Amino acid sequence: MKILDHLPSRVSIYEVSPRDGLQNEAAQVATHSKVRLIEALVRSGLKRIEITSFVSPKWVPQMADADQVAHMAEAPEGVTFSALVPNGTGLVRAQKAGLGEVAVFLSASQTHNLKNVNKTIEQTLTAFDRVIEPAVAAGDRVRGYVSTVWGCPYEGDVAVADSLRLAKTLLARGCYQVSLGDTIGVGTPLQTRRILDAMLAEIPPERIALHLHDTRGTALANVLVGLSMGITTFDAAVGGLGGCPYAPGAAGNLATEDLVYCLDGMGIETGVDLEQLWQAGQVAEALVGRKLPGKVHTAGVRSLTH
Ligand code: HMG
Ligand code: MG
Repeated sequence: MKILDHLPSRVSIYEVSPRDGLQNEAAQVATHSKVRLIEALVRSGLKRIEITSFVSPKWVPQMADADQVAHMAEAPEGVTFSALVPNGTGLVRAQKAGLGEVAVFLSASQTHNLKNVNKTIEQTLTAFDRVIEPAVAAGDRVRGYVSTVWGCPYEGDVAVADSLRLAKTLLARGCYQVSLGDTIGVGTPLQTRRILDAMLAEIPPERIALHLHDTRGTALANVLVGLSMGITTFDAAVGGLGGCPYAPGAAGNLATEDLVYCLDGMGIETGVDLEQLWQAGQVAEALVGRKLPGKVHTAGVRSLTH
């Protein structure tokens, strides 16, 4: 089968459970519990973790303790902690907390952008004047997100040209990578190929990541399309935690366990230990007090399946 003929040998996983995973939880998760989750993720071998977001606590109360989380969590050598930042205030908070990487975010559809950050897309790009360029000038790394690329909960279809324009703008302004978001998990494989065909005509594959929510069980199928087209960074959240508070219907992220299991099985290196990851998933379940979708203990059946 042609799609499986050109897979990379190594993939980088960008873990978002402490941020995207927890931001949507109604019950406040204790700060020390968030730190416990981050530590468990580090033990699993994940090297890139988005630990919190420096957004308005009025908009996302669950992330109100961002400063404490960032102060308490310690990134060992070789591990990068990042955080979502919407504006200059967020950057100042992130820098004070000692983070060397931040992530800016905007949506390809106007209505989701307005609901999410109370600004039009153009106003959001202006707000980034106080994030991207100053962060890069200070020696920090900046990642970018373009959300609702596969579809918007308010507007439906989103033109690929709009997502492409924003991705190129973020990269030109200094983001090292842009993560394309299927915010509400509506993407299907041929659509993913169309989106990536357009993106890869103008952007090198290493500067694109896929951020897939698994609302309809299509995330891994879309990962496979991405892999076959040269994409080597995928966002995921342990346990399949997650959702955007301003995207009705957005369910969990692609579960990191499912991603690692699938990549392991295809001989693609991730540097992540599945057993330790399962332990981190147990921590995540304890934090939110319920069973999570992506938590099957696959480590034990490895020898049967590979
Ligand atoms: P606003 O109300 O228009 O902002 O919100 P403002 O500038 O008028 O400020 C209002 C108040 O918030 C002021 O305080 C500011 O100081 C404060 P007051 O004077 O009322 O006491 N404020 C802040 N406080 C702390 N940190 C800050 C900050 N900024 C302002 N950084 C704003 C605009 C952007 C701040 C707000 O809309 C916001 O925080 N939105 C964030 C929403 C969010 O986090 N959504 C989820 C993440 S996006 C996502 O999940 C998608 C993604 O996963 C990818 C995908 O799935 O596709 C990334
Ligand atoms: Mg998300």
